[in-house]
Amino acid sequence: MAFPVVRHRRLRGSQAMRNMVRENQVTVHDLVYPIFVTHGTNVKEQIPSMPGVYHFSLDTLEEELKEIVALGIQAVLLFGVPAYKDAVGKSASDDEEIVQQATRRIKSLYPELLVVADTCLCQFTDHGHCGVIHVDPVTDRATVDNDLSLEQLVKTAVSQARAGADVIAPSNMMDGFVHAIRTGLDEAGFEHVPIMSYSVKYASAFYGPFRDAAHSTPQFGDRKTYQMDPANVREAMREAESDVIEGADMLMVKPGLAYLDVVRMLKDSFDLPVVVYNVSAEYSMVKAAAEKGWINEQAIVLEMMTGFKRAGADMILTYFAKDVAKWLRG
Ligand code: PBG
Repeated sequence: MAFPVVRHRRLRGSQAMRNMVRENQVTVHDLVYPIFVTHGTNVKEQIPSMPGVYHFSLDTLEEELKEIVALGIQAVLLFGVPAYKDAVGKSASDDEEIVQQATRRIKSLYPELLVVADTCLCQFTDHGHCGVIHVDPVTDRATVDNDLSLEQLVKTAVSQARAGADVIAPSNMMDGFVHAIRTGLDEAGFEHVPIMSYSVKYASAFYGPFRDAAHSTPQFGDRKTYQMDPANVREAMREAESDVIEGADMLMVKPGLAYLDVVRMLKDSFDLPVVVYNVSAEYSMVKAAAEKGWINEQAIVLEMMTGFKRAGADMILTYFAKDVAKWLRG
């Protein structure tokens, strides 16, 4: 059957009709809001390249949490600026460091709010890499040592779980990190804590503003020996497959906008929930254009969120979470 019997516009004639046939819907339950925590008191410092995103000290964080909870947001993702950095990122697994402190504070104030802990070393190492560096004594070449890094990452995940993290989200892209962390969590009695794996994380220019915020720019080289080449998608399948076999509970794709094909592929290939990370530069670009008056921010952001859902995302990590929650309320 074709035109004139078929008329697609019949189902677009009114708002109510469009509402009835809508295939995908963004809800506040899809959203995870990333938060940056830092030492000190009375700190609420805007990140210059991310207008509307702040570093919070524990006291100012309380105000922010009140707003987040009131908006109906159910989950936050924590990033911390630690008091000290060293070669192996020991502050990542320090029970008294800022991420652990913030986790305890959040869970005591809002036990129902889910805390997702980003498990990585780049904010905690003095060289800014996501793992431990090994220098070859013969060639003097520095590389990120996979298996040594796993030990530190397991300690970090266990420390985060001990502080009360509800979800462990490893973003380091070492091989075998899901297996190592799952085993470590289980041995420490945290077998009930799920792993949201950054399964497919690309070596992307879209993390630029985040690295300013987290002070996590690598001091030498780049992350291309562990994060994925943006040109590859078959390899993304292998990465995700490993994580599934190793016991991941959720699979993440990062960044979002330029990688929606990968989101769709994981959704079709596995039966685990799929998460997309709408990363820092995706946020900053929209903010900058909106500030210039070139775009309608609300319409653009809601369209992006809908695009993530349509591509297959069950959850969206986004710096727009509070705005989206407000807009969804109308
Ligand atoms: C840590 C980490 C990064 C992001 C989240 N976790 C940065 C990186 O890999 O350089 C980026 C988040 C963003 O850009 O919003 N490894």
